[in-house]
Amino acid sequence: MVVLGIESTAHTASVGIVDEEAKVLALASDMHRPTAGGIHPREAANHHVELLPGLVAKALEDGHVRPKEIDAVAFAQGPGLGPCLRAGATVARMLSLAWNRPLVPVNHCVAHVEIARVLSGLTDPILLYASGGNTQVIAYFRGRYRVLGETLDIGIGNFLDKLWIGLGGTFPGGPALELEARRGSELHPLPYSVHGMDVAFSGMLTAALALRAKGVPRTELAYSVEVTAYSMLTEITERAVAHRRRNEVVLGGGVACNERLRGMVREMIEGRGGTTFAPPRSLCVDNGAMIAWTGHLALEEGLVAAVEESAVQPRQRTDLVLTPWRERNGTSRPAPTVPLLASPA
Ligand code: ATP
Ligand code: FE2
Repeated sequence: MVVLGIESTAHTASVGIVDEEAKVLALASDMHRPTAGGIHPREAANHHVELLPGLVAKALEDGHVRPKEIDAVAFAQGPGLGPCLRAGATVARMLSLAWNRPLVPVNHCVAHVEIARVLSGLTDPILLYASGGNTQVIAYFRGRYRVLGETLDIGIGNFLDKLWIGLGGTFPGGPALELEARRGSELHPLPYSVHGMDVAFSGMLTAALALRAKGVPRTELAYSVEVTAYSMLTEITERAVAHRRRNEVVLGGGVACNERLRGMVREMIEGRGGTTFAPPRSLCVDNGAMIAWTGHLALEEGLVAAVEESAVQPRQRTDLVLTPWRERNGTSRPAPTVPLLASPA
């Protein structure tokens, strides 16, 4: 079985082709990068409309896959920016009709989680999903993924992006801030906002920009923000691990590319005698392969949609969708051999 997956929830248009053993046969992506400010949904959607047909062709060519070898077409149904979601859904519907193959809607957050889980080989880990729009600590329980804790305001990645733009940089901020922070060593106090299992970042954004205005060097700010924000994420992850008595953590989402975050979570979990895993970077950030893989899992359960039932759902939360495959094969699927905490792709 081979599934083609289309991702278009926000800044990235991506097409992945994945087989039934979670082998990525092809991945073709392109990120919309505004020259100034954040993402404008209409501009990002125009980018996706322009690029997706070429990315489909490239993925088929790179993977040496012919259209008739594709068994289903999966797409990210939500959550995300409406115009961007519709661009990907339209291409997916068209391919499904043209190739006469089932159309499989997939939740973007669950897809981040599932690609990380299958690559990790860990069967029932706690999941730290840290991306631009989302920051959630997740555990599976009775038929769906439950959000144990999350951001009360903005996603960690959006916070890093806004901060970097406020410091004079361009989108995306996370990777640039990581490089900047590597040279820092002085910790400036910033609001540490943990509320039970939840976190908040807007106070830290205001405080960091105020420190910059007072002349604190960008490098020291980047370092202080990373240490403070990733400590908050590590703390809520540890709380989830302790409560659920699961000594396994999997990271997913674009911010899981960050070496400091990976290291802090690893130190925490190894201190408790457990293990952690983060996918290669190309599969942490938004990508079509995670949509294709989750499409496989959904397809096995018959979770396909007629075109007229495939409307996008910009606010579809992680805990809204059912994941029946977790009951059936959640503990039995063999995992490919990938080293724990894989180094950058
Ligand atoms: P979601 O809908 O899941 O919230 P998203 O649209 O934010 O997805 P992702 O590709 O999952 O997209 O994550 C992008 C975010 O990851 C951006 O905010 C970016 O700054 C951040 N990011 C990418 N690499 C790094 C890094 N090395 N360190 C910190 N943040 C990073
Ligand atoms: Fe994402």
